[in-house]
Amino acid sequence: MENLKIDISKVYGFIPAEEIQNLSERTRKAAEALENKTGKGNDFVGWVNLPSSISESDLKDIEQTAFRMRQEIDLLVVIGIGGSYLGAKAVVEALSNTFRYLQNIKDLPLILFAGQNIGEDYLNELLEVLQNLRFGIVVISKSGTTTEPAIAFRILKEKLEIKAGKKKARELIIAITDDSQGALRTLATREGYKTFVIPDDVGGRYSVLTPVGLVPLSIGGFDIRALVEGARAMEKLTLSALPQAENPAALYAAARYLLYLSGKKIEILANFENKLHFLAEWWKQLYGESEGKESKGIFPASVDFTADLHSMGQYIQEGERTLMETVISVRQPQTRLKIPEDQDNFDKLNYLAGKRLDAVNKMAELGTMLAHVDGGVPNIRIELPELNEYHLGQLMYFFEKACGISGYLLDVNPFDQPGVEAYKMNMFALLEKPGFEEETRKIKERL
Ligand code: PA5
Repeated sequence: MENLKIDISKVYGFIPAEEIQNLSERTRKAAEALENKTGKGNDFVGWVNLPSSISESDLKDIEQTAFRMRQEIDLLVVIGIGGSYLGAKAVVEALSNTFRYLQNIKDLPLILFAGQNIGEDYLNELLEVLQNLRFGIVVISKSGTTTEPAIAFRILKEKLEIKAGKKKARELIIAITDDSQGALRTLATREGYKTFVIPDDVGGRYSVLTPVGLVPLSIGGFDIRALVEGARAMEKLTLSALPQAENPAALYAAARYLLYLSGKKIEILANFENKLHFLAEWWKQLYGESEGKESKGIFPASVDFTADLHSMGQYIQEGERTLMETVISVRQPQTRLKIPEDQDNFDKLNYLAGKRLDAVNKMAELGTMLAHVDGGVPNIRIELPELNEYHLGQLMYFFEKACGISGYLLDVNPFDQPGVEAYKMNMFALLEKPGFEEETRKIKERL
C-alpha cells in the first residue's frame, strides 16, 4: 500500500530548508519523549503505540457487537462531545455517500450524532426522526460526567425505553467509558449495558483508534481493520529513530513551528474534497486543545475549497499576513465523471469537454497553491493516495504524532485542557448546580 506524502517545499521561500533541517535534533527528542513517556503529560501518551497494541481479541469483540447491533437497528445514535465525537464523525463523513440520507439503503445503519450541542430543536428533530425507525445508542464519555452528552443520553434513553421496552433497550445501548469511574460506568453496570473501556492513558482527542471511534464505525459497516492497519503503518513511519527528512510527522511539526515563530499565527487546513470537512473539525480540536495554552499556540482554522475560495479566498490572498495553509489533497477519487461536449457551447466550456472533474479540481488546487504562496501564505501539502479507511488511519495517526511533537516544541503539555473548565464553572453556577452555591452567588453579583 502506498503511504501519505508530505511536501513542505513551498515553505522554503519563507523559512530556509536549512533552518528546518537544523530543528531535527529537537523533533527527534520530542518524538522520543512521546515514545519513552518522558515528556510533559506523560501519563496520557497511551495513544502513541495504540495501533500496534490493538489485539485481535479487541477487534473481534468490537466486530461481534457491531454485527449483533446491525441486525437490530436501522439507525445508530452516537452520543458524545469533543474527542468522544469528532473522530467517528470525521471518518463517517469522509467515507459515506454524501446523499445517503436521501437513499433508502437498509443494509447498514445510518449514523447520527447527539450530545455534541444542547440545541433544543436539534434534539427534538432527532426524536421525531427516531419515532419511525429501529434505533440503538452508543453513549461515549471518558469522564462519564460531561453535561451535554449526559443530557442527550437521558432523553434518548427514555425514548428508546418507551419504544422498545426497558429490557430490549438495555440490549440496544452500548456505553464506552472509563474502566471503573464516573456516572456512566455506574449506570452501565446497574443496567447491564455492553461496555467498552477508554484506556486511562488516552485522552479524548487522541482516542479515535480506541473503542470511541472503532465501535460506532464498525456498527456503521466501516472497515476498522484497515483503519488500524493504516495507523500501524504510520506508527512505524513516524518513529523517532528515523531522520527528520523521512519522518512526515517531524517534518510537519518542524515546518509549522518555525512558521509560527516567524509570525504565521494561524494555520488553515484546506481540502478540495468536501467530505473532509469534519476531518478538519477533528484536526482543529486536536491542535487547538493541545497547543492553545500558556498564551501560546497556532490558531487552527479550516476551509472547504473551492467553495470557500469564493468567501474566505479574498482574506487568504490579501488579508493580514499571519496565515499558513496546509492542504489535504486526495490523489484519486473513488468514482469518475467527465464533462460532456455541448454543441451550442453557450457556456464556453467545450475546452473542458472530455476532461474529468478531478482534473479541473486538481488545477484549481495547483492554481490556488501558487496564488496563495505568491500572496505570502506558505503552503504545506499532504497527499493521500485515496480516501479510504487505510489512508484515513494513516492521516489521523500522522496528525496525532505531529501534534505531540509540536506541543513539545512549544514547551506545553499537549495532553491537558485546563481552559475547557472555565465555561463549565460559569454554566454550573448559572444553572445553580448543587455544590456550586458560592460560585452562583458570585456570578449573580456580576450580572
Ligand atoms: O479531548 C478531550 O479530552 C475533550 O475534548 C473530551 O473528549 C470532551 O470534553 C468529552 O469528554 P468526555 O469523554 O469525558 O465526556
